[in-house]
Amino acid sequence: MNIYSDYDLKKHNTFGMDVKASTFIEYNSVDELKSIIPTLGGNVLHIGGGSNLLFKGDFEGTILHSAIKGIDIVEHDDKEGKVTVRVGAGEVWDDFVAWAVEHGLGGVENLSLIPGEVGASAVQNIGAYGVEAKDVISTVETINLKTGEARIFTNEECSYAYRQSIFKNELKGMYAVTHVVYTLSTKAELKLEYGNIKAVLGERDSLTYADVRQAIIDIRNAKLPDPKVLGNAGSFFMNPVVSRDKFLSIQKDYPQMPFYEVEGGVKIPAGWMIDQCGWKGKSLGRAAVHDKQALVLVNLGGATSDEIVALCETICRDVKAKFDVDIHPEVNFI
Ligand code: EPU
Repeated sequence: MNIYSDYDLKKHNTFGMDVKASTFIEYNSVDELKSIIPTLGGNVLHIGGGSNLLFKGDFEGTILHSAIKGIDIVEHDDKEGKVTVRVGAGEVWDDFVAWAVEHGLGGVENLSLIPGEVGASAVQNIGAYGVEAKDVISTVETINLKTGEARIFTNEECSYAYRQSIFKNELKGMYAVTHVVYTLSTKAELKLEYGNIKAVLGERDSLTYADVRQAIIDIRNAKLPDPKVLGNAGSFFMNPVVSRDKFLSIQKDYPQMPFYEVEGGVKIPAGWMIDQCGWKGKSLGRAAVHDKQALVLVNLGGATSDEIVALCETICRDVKAKFDVDIHPEVNFI
C-alpha cells in the first residue's frame, strides 16, 4: 500500500488539471483496503483512471485508488462458448479488452480504447459503438467503505442505464469496486451496426474480434483527442433524451438531425447540437471544443477548471437557446 501527502493529481486526471490531494492512498488488495477503512474520516473520494473527472480545485481529503490487478478465467462453458472472467478493478480497461481479443473472446471489442480502469467500467456503465459494459457484466464485487463488509452486486442490482448505475446514484461514494466479473463468449456475434464500423472494415470474407477492435481503434483515433497530447475527459456531455413531440418539432427545422429511438423518447446527439451552434473547434480562454468531435471539451494547455466550466455553461446556454433542450455534463465535477 502507498500513502502520500500533498499529492500531485496531474497524473490522475486526464484533463490535466494542476491540483493536489491532502492524502492519496493506493491499495493492492482487498485486505489492504479493509485495513485502511477504519482510519478514513471526512472527505473520501475513490477514483479510477481519472478519465471522467474535472477537479475544480485542490481536494481536501483522502483519495483512494485501487491497484488490484489480475485477469482470471473462472468458468469456461465449452458447449455454450461462455467464458466467465474476473478482473481486478485496477486493471487498465483497454488492457482487459486487448486480453479478451487475444484469447478469442468476444463482447468487449467495441469498447476498445476507452480510457480508464475496470472498476470504473462498472460504475459509469461505459459505452461506445452500440455496446455498454452492462451487456457483459455478470457481477460486481465491492467493499462497503464505512463497514468494510464485502457485497457482491448482481447485474440487476446495479440498476444500469445509459451512463448510470446504482454506484453513481443511490449508493454514491458508499462502495469501492474491487473486482468485476464479465461474461464473454467465443461465439459472441459481432456488433457492426453503429456509425461507420462497416465502412471502416470494408468488404471481407470473415471478421474476427481483433478486426473489430482495430476498426474501433482507428475510428476513435481519428475523432477523439489523445489525453496525453490534449487534456480531455472524453464526451463532456451526455446525449439528452427528449419527448417525441419535442423531437418532431426540432426535426421540422433540421431534417438531417441524427437521432436514436430509445425507451421513453428520442436521443439526440449533444455533439451534433453543439456543432450546429457553431462551437466545434472554437475556444473560450484556454478551454476549447474539439475540432473533430464537438462533444469533447479540451484543455489547450494550462486551462483552469473555471475556464472549462465557463465553456460548459456557455455551450449549455447556447444549446438551450437554439433547440430548447437541456444538456448535462457526463463528467463528474469534484
Ligand atoms: N456529430 C456531429 N458533430 C459533432 C459530433 C457528432 O454532427 O461534432 C454527429 C455525428 O455525425 C453522428 C452523431 O452526432 O451522427 C453521433 O456522434 P458519434 O457517433 O461521434 O457519437 P456521440 O453520440 O457523439 C457517443 C458516446 C461516446 C462514444 C460514441 C460512439 C456519449 C456521451 N458519448 O458519442 O463516448 O465513443 O457515442 O459510440 O454517449 C465518452 O463517453 O467519453 C465517449 C467518447
